[in-house]
Amino acid sequence: MLKVVKLGGAVITFKESYKNLRKDVLSRLLKEIAQYYLETGTCIVLVHGGGSFGHAVVSECLKRVGYIDPSCYAATADAMDQLSGFVRGIAIELGLPAVSIAPRSVCTISSGSTVCNLDVFRKLISRGLVPITYGDVVYSDKGFEVLSGDTLAWLLTRELEAGELIFVTDVDGVYDRDPKLDSSARLIREALARDVLGYLTESLFQADVTGGMRGKLLEGLRLGVRGVKVKVVGGFIEGNLYKALVSDSFRGSIIWY
Ligand code: IPE
Repeated sequence: MLKVVKLGGAVITFKESYKNLRKDVLSRLLKEIAQYYLETGTCIVLVHGGGSFGHAVVSECLKRVGYIDPSCYAATADAMDQLSGFVRGIAIELGLPAVSIAPRSVCTISSGSTVCNLDVFRKLISRGLVPITYGDVVYSDKGFEVLSGDTLAWLLTRELEAGELIFVTDVDGVYDRDPKLDSSARLIREALARDVLGYLTESLFQADVTGGMRGKLLEGLRLGVRGVKVKVVGGFIEGNLYKALVSDSFRGSIIWY
């Protein structure tokens, strides 16, 4: 069974500080993935977010130019390649046969929907490689747009028929209210996607430009993902990602699609 793992940008970078990697957290998470991969040989696709690399560059461009012009596109692509280079370098050192695949080479956006040719993923996975991909800038019918790592993770899950999708986030799972704003927020341990979306109101979850927790979960339903176990896992707890990879006993939430 294939597993897709998305490492949130807020977990692997310091979001408020320009192009600043959380190297210790990233290394630990990759170590947990490598341990699991080397023990079980399970096929894995790794997706990572933009954090203070991609997001910071795009936000600056949008403020300055108002849209993603060719210079913004190039600078954002470069920032994401830098970040993915760090992820790949550490992954390879840890024994993962990792290779980066740039979404801008295989995906486009047309009338708001993303179309990707994922053949290269299928081929590399079938030969034992661990593809690393990420949120990126892509060609669109409106010019250029950001394709979020979350959207890509859902598409990979659907198209490659993954059995599990694991979101590694800076919160410890899905809460009924925003835990950053409300200390009485309750962690949802396990639920059906359509039920959980009823608890989360839009206004409480606007964590970042790509939509926060509600948007993350809603997107899977919008994209017609079915028969998948989705785990939302706290990334700052040592050993937690490994636990989520091998079992259902971890700090976080299980959401069924
Ligand atoms: C964003 O990807 C990529 C760019 C801005 C180019 P994500 O939306 O997946 O990033 P995070 O996880 O929120 O940082």
